[in-house]
Amino acid sequence: MTEKCNVLILGAGAAGMMCAIRAGQRGRSVIILDHAKAPGEKIRISGGGRCNFTNVHAAPKNYLSNNPHFAKSALARYTPRDFIVLVEKHRIAFHEKTLGQLFCDDSAKDIIRMLLAEMQAVGAKLKLQTDITLVEAIPTGGFRVSTSADVIEADSLVLATGGKSIPKMGATGFAYRIAEQFGLGIIETRPGLVPLTLEPTQLEKLSALSGIAVPAEISHGKTSFNEALLFTHRGLSGPSILQISSYWREGDEVRLKMEPDLDILGHLKAAKKTNGRQSPQTALGEILPKRLAQHVVERAGVTGNLGDMSDKTLSTLTAAVQEWSIKPSGSEGYRTAEVTLGGVDTTDLDSKSMQAKTIPGLYFIGECVDVTGWLGGYNFQWAWASGHAAGESV
Ligand code: FDA
Repeated sequence: MTEKCNVLILGAGAAGMMCAIRAGQRGRSVIILDHAKAPGEKIRISGGGRCNFTNVHAAPKNYLSNNPHFAKSALARYTPRDFIVLVEKHRIAFHEKTLGQLFCDDSAKDIIRMLLAEMQAVGAKLKLQTDITLVEAIPTGGFRVSTSADVIEADSLVLATGGKSIPKMGATGFAYRIAEQFGLGIIETRPGLVPLTLEPTQLEKLSALSGIAVPAEISHGKTSFNEALLFTHRGLSGPSILQISSYWREGDEVRLKMEPDLDILGHLKAAKKTNGRQSPQTALGEILPKRLAQHVVERAGVTGNLGDMSDKTLSTLTAAVQEWSIKPSGSEGYRTAEVTLGGVDTTDLDSKSMQAKTIPGLYFIGECVDVTGWLGGYNFQWAWASGHAAGESV
């Protein structure tokens, strides 16, 4: 049996559902397909179950892409405020956690329920547990998609199947394959917002620190993030590391400045003056986690009490806290990455509508496009904005 509709959306994630809503509001008949059992699974697990659904500061500078200008149009036409209005309409309570990051007070499922209610209101039809077997262009116009259940023909086809991160949840490289099938370019994909790993010898040296979290400024080239750093049994994690991982390339070093807002040298000098018999471990342990203070003193290779130490030695100790240079051996990969960098080449897409420039009616939105946000609600904002842009055009 062949079913017909105006708009067929592949992928019922954040971007696909937003596109379905907007297209439906414009009077289009919409079918949205997904191979998963439930829609919006990544929304459900996001933000520790509370979904960091946007960031009030979202701006083009918070996104990585081969073409940094591409995201501007969609982000300007569907803003964090627009999404907040929708959240407020559905009376979903939320709060700002930090740095402009908005989270649900209760559960990420509230966001999924909201999107499903909006889809239902415009008559968008959701088909789950449906495998796509063939996608083809109809020579006279439109697209035909064969699935495990039936055949669907549509005037517009929207690819919203996300990236490769968390394959255990059903992530596939499907959108990239379809882009290639239609002759669109792909910017090499790699895991982003991902913990970085260390080689065994480095790891052994840092093993005593596993589990410790400290504020840190992490830098790669001219890019820096000032958020928490977490030492793990595999290497380095925490928001600052996830952020820098999107910029880091294999073989590169990253610079770590722990407790960037503390005057470590000033603290050591003051401690030397008031209590010269104090050990550097004890003095540093007053402002750093004890295990880290111990490690820093060993790392600096200094011995004796503060009273015996020259200002130069105190500077060496300070550097052992605030001037680390470390070469990660790799990342934890797509298994734990929150996003996929790279993807469908934006030079082949129209930035206003997300439509393929050479294939009228074919659209790519969300994570499968070569636009990747920072950690902190930016990726959902891209999903909403790009989904909305396509929904306006289909
Ligand atoms: P998304 O991955 O959401 O949806 C794609 C859909 O396509 C899925 O439903 C999938 O089942 C379906 N699909 C895939 N292949 C298919 C195929 N071959 N056939 C049929 N269907 C197929 N971002 C943020 O802004 N704030 C946050 O708090 C978080 N937190 C977070 C936590 C974790 C653990 C992860 C992994 C990621 C985040 N993110 C995030 C990132 C965010 O989840 C991501 O950027 C968006 O979900 C991307 O939305 P899309 O709609 O593009 O893809």
